[in-house]
Amino acid sequence: MENFEYHVPTKIFFGSNQLGNLGEEVSRYSNNILLVYGTGSIRQNGIYERVMEELLSYDIKVTELGGIQANPDIESVRAGKALCRKEAINFVLAVGGGSVIDCAKAIAAAACYDNDPWDFFLRKLRISKALPVGSVLTLSATGSEMNRNAVISNRETGAKLPVNEDVLKPVFSILDPEFSYSVSRYQTAAGTADIMSHCIEQYFSAEANTYIQDRLTESLMKTCIHYGPLAMQEPENYDARANLMWASTLALNGMLSAGKQGDWATHQIEHKISALYDLAHGVGLAIITPHWMEYVLSENSIEKFLAYASNVWGLVVQDDPFATAREGINKTREFFFDKLEIADSLRKENIEADDQLLEKMAEDIVRFGPLGKIKILDKDDVYCILKKCI
Ligand code: NZQ
Ligand code: ZN
Repeated sequence: MENFEYHVPTKIFFGSNQLGNLGEEVSRYSNNILLVYGTGSIRQNGIYERVMEELLSYDIKVTELGGIQANPDIESVRAGKALCRKEAINFVLAVGGGSVIDCAKAIAAAACYDNDPWDFFLRKLRISKALPVGSVLTLSATGSEMNRNAVISNRETGAKLPVNEDVLKPVFSILDPEFSYSVSRYQTAAGTADIMSHCIEQYFSAEANTYIQDRLTESLMKTCIHYGPLAMQEPENYDARANLMWASTLALNGMLSAGKQGDWATHQIEHKISALYDLAHGVGLAIITPHWMEYVLSENSIEKFLAYASNVWGLVVQDDPFATAREGINKTREFFFDKLEIADSLRKENIEADDQLLEKMAEDIVRFGPLGKIKILDKDDVYCILKKCI
């Protein structure tokens, strides 16, 4: 295990009726805030009214920025920055899933700088300050509610890029599993696949002796396997929604990767696909993951694959370890495509791409260097994986 520093300043309010903490919590920071939300779900499920009621009861002035789309665009960040400047806002509240929270984080940073916010994503400028951000989570998937990441698309250039800075960690997040009751079957599956993928990305690492991280990760994967399909069948099953929500937060708040480095190749490949085609992030990950697993399975990674097969899927290790590893990969496939009912190819999601486009995508994906840790992937490797996903 490598040395590490671990500091997550996000205060979590978890469970039923935790929204009652919102007004008091926000007013610790500001009485003049930007409220960021998506394209309509919080108006349909009543969360919008409840949030406004809470904020107004504390005399908090609210400027609204609704309409944030999934795979949020840099244009929304620019619009949010302009509002913050115009209204002298000093706190950003996100109510939604990962897209809304990521957008709120990017706005919070953009508001503190004069440059164009896309510069952060092109790595021309590092974010060292941001307005405080709080969140009310409505979809279990990304972990954005307790982490330092924000992923933003630029539809004009076809890019989708992350920033990762400690100042972006929310100061608080309200996690009421009931707020995710209205999440569709499709988005529940996508969210579960995203949590599972965050676990896989961190599990398949190159470091030795990461026993505690690996066992924690296995337990979160088992949580996805157990509760993901259940939440699809019973959307208002509190235990299913609660376990998925806490799993989403724990899977990407830095705990699983303390003392080790994640692989993250699958995510970097997926971000290009969702940038170009607006695919749900978790669906793209589910399609890529089994192909990536097959591609990186080797003598170097076999021990990890065997641990995965036996500890996560309960498989008995056979004489031929590679046969067991492949069985583990097949279990992963079965989970994503049968249990979560996700399409098993991009074509089934109406995504077509010829060889030339796949080559161009692969080139863009490695623009900041080769991907991965458990196996280093260059442009040709990425092309091969993309080709299998089509
Ligand atoms: O537009 P709204 O009204 O918000 O509707 C959303 C959207 O249509 C809907 N939804 C959310 N909560 C709902 C609901 N519908 C009914 N009831 C509710 N309670 O679901 C749709 C998808 O929402 P979105 O926020 O896009 O989903 P998710 O949470 O999966 O976020 C995906 C985004 O996060 C990025 C992804 O790349 C993608 O852009 N990621 C962020 C990460 C991070 N910050 O750490 C890490 C991830 O790996 C990921 O890259
Ligand atoms: Zn993800």
